[in-house]
Amino acid sequence: MKQLSLFETDKTTPQSSYLHLEGEIPIDLPEDSLISLQRKQPLKIHSVGFQPAKSIPEIPHWFLSKYGTEQCKILEPFAGSGTTIIETLLQGVSIYWLDYHPLSRLICRVKTHLYDGAEILDYAEQILKNAYTVKHPLETINFANKDFWFQKPVQAGLESLRTQIFQVPEAIQPLFWLAFASTVRKTSDMNDGMILAAKRANFKAIPQRSREDVYRYFKDYLDQALEAIGEWQFVLNHSLQNAIELTSKTAINLTGNWHCDAVITSPPYINAIDYVWASKFELHWLGLVSNDRARLDLYTQEIGTERIPRKEYCQLGKTGNSYLDDLIADIYYGTQYQASKGQNKLRARVVYKYFMDMKAHFLSCFNHLNPGGYYCFAIGDISKICGVEIPVAKLLTEIAEKIGFFKIFQFHLLLKNRRLNLPRNVKWAGTIKHDTVVVLQKTRI
Ligand SMILES: C[S@@+](CC[C@H](N)C(=O)[O-])C[C@H]1O[C@@H](n2cnc3c(N)ncnc32)[C@H](O)[C@@H]1O
Repeated sequence: MKQLSLFETDKTTPQSSYLHLEGEIPIDLPEDSLISLQRKQPLKIHSVGFQPAKSIPEIPHWFLSKYGTEQCKILEPFAGSGTTIIETLLQGVSIYWLDYHPLSRLICRVKTHLYDGAEILDYAEQILKNAYTVKHPLETINFANKDFWFQKPVQAGLESLRTQIFQVPEAIQPLFWLAFASTVRKTSDMNDGMILAAKRANFKAIPQRSREDVYRYFKDYLDQALEAIGEWQFVLNHSLQNAIELTSKTAINLTGNWHCDAVITSPPYINAIDYVWASKFELHWLGLVSNDRARLDLYTQEIGTERIPRKEYCQLGKTGNSYLDDLIADIYYGTQYQASKGQNKLRARVVYKYFMDMKAHFLSCFNHLNPGGYYCFAIGDISKICGVEIPVAKLLTEIAEKIGFFKIFQFHLLLKNRRLNLPRNVKWAGTIKHDTVVVLQKTRI
């Protein structure tokens, strides 16, 4: 097989350049391989919970098979919907995890908790019976454009479910909140498959919905979650206590006195997903943010945030990496593409801030890693911003190397059916075609 270097892999990459694999990624994969993976049906637990940029379990599986030991402790600092957590627990390995996003934390908590199916079904019956009896539920949730996105009977259905979920014992509430979160998304006036709440030209008409629709979806989502959890708990013969949620609420600065042997993660994609906007409805309906302002404040903590004050983004930032700084200046001055007023400067700052936050994150991980420990990440290889190609994986590797990591391995995975399908102006940005998986190591001394 011909080995390709990372930056030859543009849209014209011929099929024959790929190593076509089925099922697992082999541990003897040649360095710098370009692979196309035919995946096996994953466990149902992986599809529980909304996450617009899910990674695939084959990557943590490959890493643990190649570099892991039974005693090792893993860190997943960008847990999302818990792909790494599930795979790590399956292999009987312990894991610390965090995510700044409250919906992700809810999803991961559900996946790392033991539930008694019969008890859940009893409470579900009670919730639905009582929800029907309240004629005019109190309006407790408010946020911008609520009436635009939620029909009145849907609002009443959601409010009545909320009241009833609060009556359930606290320890098992998260599972009901998760089914509720899926119900919120499904019964909103977004089109199926839409990631961001925005009515665009190709928007399809939405049917009239009733309160009963809300209850029916809630029950369906609960049943689906229970089935997935049942399958998951059946295959898992290790303790869920091996998964420990860290108290740190951001991966930029990891606090606490703990150490790990490896980080296995997929960091946020630059300029691709606004996780807060993508889950705006769930955040409000679940009461995970108190108002619109709190939601926007949450977004400022996201790595890759575009919520940057004008005074700050007017400055041209310097990261100290001269190649990256030239790319940031190209975006800032619009050498490839002149966007509307202020947008070039804002985008340049987004890129600057993304890499500075990731630098702080690498340093924080370095300090929590044991000597000889690993950092394995998967990220889109190249992102295009204002016409400027940013080789994200390569730049992150260089930044980590400056901190003291050594790159020991990498390969590239062709992305298929990924949900990063945001409508884009092609002059601004292109679609990410490959994920690059990089393994870094800290020295043993
Ligand atoms: C690419 S996704 C991870 C997806 C995950 N591997 C999965 O399969 O579900 C990146 C995650 O980083 C989280 N994130 C963004 N900024 C963060 C921060 N400052 N600290 C911790 N997590 C953050 C997002 O909420 C998102 O869940």
